[in-house]
Amino acid sequence: MSDNKLHHSYQHFISLCFSNRFIPTKKNKKRYGIDKEIKAALRNIIHKKEQAMQNGDSGDADLLGLLLKCRDEADNDMTIEDVIEECKLFYFAGQETTANLLTWTLIVLSMHPEWQEKAREEVLQICGKKTAEIDSIKQLKIVPMILNEVLRLYPPVTILHRHTLKETSIRGIAIPAGVDLLLPFLFLHYDPEYWGDNAEEFKPERFSEGISKASKDEIAFYPFGWGPRFCLGQNFALTEAKMALTMILQNFWFELSPSYTHAPCTVITLQPQHGAPVILHQL
Ligand code: HEM
Repeated sequence: MSDNKLHHSYQHFISLCFSNRFIPTKKNKKRYGIDKEIKAALRNIIHKKEQAMQNGDSGDADLLGLLLKCRDEADNDMTIEDVIEECKLFYFAGQETTANLLTWTLIVLSMHPEWQEKAREEVLQICGKKTAEIDSIKQLKIVPMILNEVLRLYPPVTILHRHTLKETSIRGIAIPAGVDLLLPFLFLHYDPEYWGDNAEEFKPERFSEGISKASKDEIAFYPFGWGPRFCLGQNFALTEAKMALTMILQNFWFELSPSYTHAPCTVITLQPQHGAPVILHQL
């Protein structure tokens, strides 16, 4: 490529990156508006919580209370803006991901009614028609196998991002500071080297002896990340998903509408591109 062309495409690249966030395009103006609205709503919730805490609420009963309490601690420089960002992170990290897991689970169990039936049998045997308690949730074996297999095939998060703040080395490969690294772990989840020739098939039985025995290397199962930034909400999310799925299985059997088109796509999280039209039948 000539210097001129290189310069031109570099400029194009810079303008793309730049326009993505800072140029006041129509789309960006809408984004700024939404951002402002979300921040104002959160500031309002935080303000109300602060007032409640001044009037005697201990703040121990919810996450916002705990965040505000630790903000009050002497050497803490957490600002209200930081609290707002934490609220946004918890909402997005917690809500969107678990909702996607449940959506994919309903889709996959509609495609594999034999597993839907096995899961329902287990749920009815352990919990009956009663709302599941944490003790009965812990006894479930088939449901967690199914959730793990759904997390393998349709992980709500498919790529991890890292940015090097200083020069670093990974297994002898030197990486300068300021580099964005992407780990598309979806490829690991589908790699026959770890999962065998049926890697693309839905086979919850591979998790029958737990995650460590499901593949040739435990590190090939990545839905919640690994290492120091491992998902904080993993146990919460799995408990929530088990509770919700248990309630659905107790009350309905379900199938996909003929209008369903299988087209997983990533819009930050992995979603069914044309929605998940599932028909619920009351049991
Ligand atoms: C099925 C549901 C979920 C999935 C698949 C999921 C997945 C992930 C992944 C892949 C990461 C990134 C780890 C990394 O960068 O190494 C992460 C981080 C995080 N998750 Fe989740 N998550 C889920 C549910 C939740 C829930 C329910 C909460 C909170 C209630 C939550 C809170 C967080 C937080 C706070 C982080 C950032 C941790 C850090 O940077 O130290 N997640 N999650």
